[in-house]
Amino acid sequence: MSRKLIKYNLMIPGPTPIPTRILAAMNHDMIGHRGPLFSAVMKEVMEDLKWAYETKNDIFIYPSSGTGGMEVAVVNTLSPGDKVIVLNIGNFGSRFAKICKAYEADVNDVKFERGRPADPKVLEAELKKGPVKAVLLQQNETSTGVLNDVETLARTVRKLQPDALIIVDAVSGMMAAPLKTDEWDLDVVVSGSQKAFMVPPGVAAVSISARAWKAYETSKCPKHYWDFGLMKEQAPKGHTYTTPPESLIFGMAEGLKMLKEEGRENVHARHKANRDIVRAACKALGLKLLADDAHASPAVTAIFPPEGVDGEEVRKLMRDDFNVEVAPGQSELKGKIFRIGHLGYVDSLDLIGALAAIEVLFKRLGAKINFGNGVRAAMELL
Ligand SMILES: Cc1ncc(COP(=O)(O)O)c(C=O)c1O
Repeated sequence: MSRKLIKYNLMIPGPTPIPTRILAAMNHDMIGHRGPLFSAVMKEVMEDLKWAYETKNDIFIYPSSGTGGMEVAVVNTLSPGDKVIVLNIGNFGSRFAKICKAYEADVNDVKFERGRPADPKVLEAELKKGPVKAVLLQQNETSTGVLNDVETLARTVRKLQPDALIIVDAVSGMMAAPLKTDEWDLDVVVSGSQKAFMVPPGVAAVSISARAWKAYETSKCPKHYWDFGLMKEQAPKGHTYTTPPESLIFGMAEGLKMLKEEGRENVHARHKANRDIVRAACKALGLKLLADDAHASPAVTAIFPPEGVDGEEVRKLMRDDFNVEVAPGQSELKGKIFRIGHLGYVDSLDLIGALAAIEVLFKRLGAKINFGNGVRAAMELL
């Protein structure tokens, strides 16, 4: 039976499906981006982002994907030759290392086993080797489905090197899990519109602490489009340096309004509950998970397919047979795992549908799974 024209189910860790309220808000006439109407919306988005980030720091909005936001953080705070530590727990950790190397920083790329979080003891040992300009890390590593303990890692940096910058890629973790920018003393925090904000890709937000502003003053990395200085003049007016992606900003305003209505703790609890549904179902089916329970991401779960089944095959058949889009393994995990996103506008019943499809798919492939047990275990959690 062809399912090509039936509902498409997006189950990847961003972009997430978009709520109708946000789609409607984005369906807006273009208005002058230097005029008062747009400026008011932009200021509202910047204020609401401060709520999401739990910060009083400046937040700048760039027309960019999340990777651009990571580059913003690097080029505005570092200089060629600066020693930095990258806590690399997956593909996006490797990306931070690549960006730093592209700008000729002296990178200590501290790699952890895939599926494990960054170990504060290892960080402590690296920090004891000598002063560094910055420590860069992911809040949530999307490629492995692992949540870092940012609070403990940040405390470790502050204890040993109080002046080092802490630069956090919170692209997939922001609002999916707690991130207390000010309380944890984080210097630059990057987020992206297409994740828990439930808005299409194209907006990156970056928070900047007083320590990061000080680093900016001496930073010698080449920059123009990303330059904090250009944004500093514009942001207080509710403007961006370049033409902003207006539709996305209207979407961000609505997405943030929805999150505030739901309440921060409830948003976090929703992501956790969805994570637990996926993990309970996989375990009941007898599937192995990449991350352990203590460090499991509330945004995405990385799953090993049953013996003899390739992760890429799962992805193709889920798409072809059920119109469910799941995510592939990345880098060294390509083909070995597949990932289910439970981030943003995804609810428990969407997940149970996807889990039912997985069960049917594995049964068709003749895999040894406990057919029916996954969905049952998930239903027990409703
Ligand atoms: C943790 C993390 N960092 C950075 C990025 C890069 O974002 P983008 O693909 O929007 O450039 C992603 C994208 O999935 C991500 O999950």
